[in-house]
Parts: sequence; C-alpha cells; structure tokens
Amino acid sequence: MPQEKTSTPALSPDINPEAGVQTDALDLIATAVLLLDRDLRLRQLNAAAESLFAMSPRHVLGQRLVELFFDSALLEEKLAVTIQSGRGFSDQSLRLTRPGHEPLLLNCIVTPFEPGPGVLQQGGLVLEFRHIEQQLRHEREEQRLTQHEANRVLIRNLAHEIKNPLGGLRGSAQLLERELDRPELREYTQVIIKEADRLQMLMDRLLAPHRMVQRAPVNIHEVCERVRSLILAEFPSGIRVVRDYDVSLPEFQGDREQLIQAVLNITRNASQALLASPTPEGGARITLRTRAAWQTSIAGRTCRLALELQVVDNGPGIAAELRERIFLPLVSGREGGTGLGLTLAQSFVQNHRGMIECESQPGRTAFRVLFPL
Ligand SMILES: Nc1ncnc2c1ncn2[C@@H]1O[C@H](COP(=O)(O)OP(=O)(O)OP(=O)(O)O)[C@@H](O)[C@H]1O
Ligand SMILES: [Mg+2]
Repeated sequence: MPQEKTSTPALSPDINPEAGVQTDALDLIATAVLLLDRDLRLRQLNAAAESLFAMSPRHVLGQRLVELFFDSALLEEKLAVTIQSGRGFSDQSLRLTRPGHEPLLLNCIVTPFEPGPGVLQQGGLVLEFRHIEQQLRHEREEQRLTQHEANRVLIRNLAHEIKNPLGGLRGSAQLLERELDRPELREYTQVIIKEADRLQMLMDRLLAPHRMVQRAPVNIHEVCERVRSLILAEFPSGIRVVRDYDVSLPEFQGDREQLIQAVLNITRNASQALLASPTPEGGARITLRTRAAWQTSIAGRTCRLALELQVVDNGPGIAAELRERIFLPLVSGREGGTGLGLTLAQSFVQNHRGMIECESQPGRTAFRVLFPL
C-alpha cells in the first residue's frame, strides 16, 4: 500500500531549473528523477531517468505520463490527487512499461513542491524511481563478494595447513617402503604416496589464484581462440564451438594464463554437460561471444565501459538445486568433479576486478564474464 508523506518542500532558488545548476546536479544522482508540472506534464528528467526509461528529452518533454507508459493511468490519478492535497506518497512496487520495452518494477517516491522561479513556476511534483531488480542484483552481488572473500581466506589457510604435513607423510612412506622386506606390503605404502600426491595437486590448484597476477596487454580473442582449440582437442567430436567476436574491442591489462584458465574452466563445464546428456536438436553448441558493455555494474561499482565475454551452451542447464551454489568450493554435480573449476574461475576473474554471472535453464546456459576497461 502507498504510504502517505506530508512534506511539501519549496523548490529552493539554487536548484532553479533555469539556473543551469539543476540539470547537472540531477544528473549526478543515481536515482531516476522526473519533474512534472501541475498539469502532470514532464518538464525535466535526469540522466539516470533517460537511461532507465530509455527516453531522450527531445522526444518526451511536455508529454504526460500516459503518453509515455502503457500502464501509468492509475499513477496519474494518484498524482492528480497529490497535486490537490499537497501530500506526497511512496509506492514500493510500481510497474511501468515503455512501448517496446520490458515492464520495469520500481520503487517510487512522489514529493510535491511549491511554486518557485523558473520553468516550474506553478509548482509541481518530483518523482524519484529506483529499479527494484537492479537494487536486488546489487545486494546479491555484494553478498556474494563478501562470501567469496571469506571463502578465499579460509581456503588459503586450510590449503597451507594441509600442504605442510603432506610432504612429511609422503617422505615417511617412501622411507618405510625401502625398509619393507615383503614386496606385497608396498601396495600399502603406494596408496599413501599416491593419495598424498593427489591431495598435493588439489592443494596446488586451490592455492593457484593466490599467486601474483602478472599483467601485460591481453587480447580477449587470443584467450578465446586458445580455449577453443583446447576444448576441440579435449572433446574431438560432437561439439561445435561458435565464435561471435566484436573484433573492435581493445586489449586490456591482464594475466593471460589466469584468463585462459578461467574461460577454460567455464567452457569445459559446458562441454562436459553437453556430452553427458542427449544431443540437443541442431547439435551440441557452445558460443563464445565478446561485446562492449556500457554502464554496467561490476561488484557494486558502475563501470562506464566493460568488456563482456559470454560462454553460452545449449545443454541441459545447471541442476536447480546447485544453481545458487556453483561458485562455492567443492560443489559439484558431476561424477568425479572436484567442484573447484568455477571457484577458481571466479577468483581469477576477481583478480582482474571483474565478475562472473550465470543464467541457466534447460537448453540455454550463459556465463557472462565482465572486465572493467
Ligand atoms: N554449462 C553448464 N551446464 C550444466 N551444468 C553446469 C555448467 N557449468 C557448471 N555446471 C555445474 O556446476 C558444477 C560445478 O562446476 P565446477 O567447474 O565448479 O566443478 P566441477 O566441474 O564439478 O569440477 P572441476 O571443475 O573442479 O573438475 C558442475 O559439476 C556442474 O554440475
Ligand atoms: Mg568444472
């Protein structure tokens, strides 16, 4: 239910629409802001509103909300009441749809203001909008980052603790083996040695993301091509790896080996999932897609320009019970999987101030890796 607000602030002269200060100041705000006059015509909007509603001021100024959104009739009625009563309100789940666009679920605060100088001489309404999904995504992202950081520290400490005694274990088993007079007993020492080696390898993998990042100019397409040839060599038949590159993307500073490993882990999972299930119609396919992404949010920061790499497969999708946990260490849905592939990929990408997102349903799984440029 909308909540009543009672404030009726006057628009102070220093944010006079004609003073030229206001436009710039409003553009600095991340919240989308619309200013309506008393006839509920749009008189001003900030940059965040332009981007949220995909509208350019040239086309929308002077129009009424019902001319801009399919579903704003009810909102307009409430706004008309607000103009009369002078009492603002807020709506926690407002739905607005621009023609040709997906509906937006919004948080909206409406505040009337009294007559002042400038364009809005007769007073009007300030409408502030926040995109709920975006807000939720930010929160989820932040939560994931904190969790990942805690995991990183835990894993590093644990891996070190396990690694140290392993050398002693292996060495002692070797010494013992030499002293054994009955060869059939070697079977037991060999088990100790082999298992120690397996654990050692696992620990080395766990500690890999913590080595120093060696930065040099990297071309993302070289990374993709290397992954593509590795995958085609590892899975010689049955999978098509399609390239969809934006070749105009610039090089960026990164650690080539870590990036290859990250993309390989994601792409290898896709290949394994494809081969473990019935071949989809049209054949098993993985697409490596690169694009420039503008104004994206990466780890809670808005990034003007980012490089986006998508790894999309047409396989069975990630099992529903795993979907929320695949980036956690030792989570695996695969026979023989260690559940480290995505944890490592995530760490490698975070070493580059980037992030990985995932969307999955049967027939389409997309991993999206973003790096700030
Ligand atoms: N494209 C995909 N399609 C279906 N399931 C996937 C996909 N990518 C990941 N998964 C699921 O996520 C799980 C975790 O992946 P992750 O790479 O972290 O571990 P793993 O592949 O099981 O083991 P490892 O990579 O360490 O050998 C996988 O076991 C699989 O169940
Ligand atoms: Mg894997």
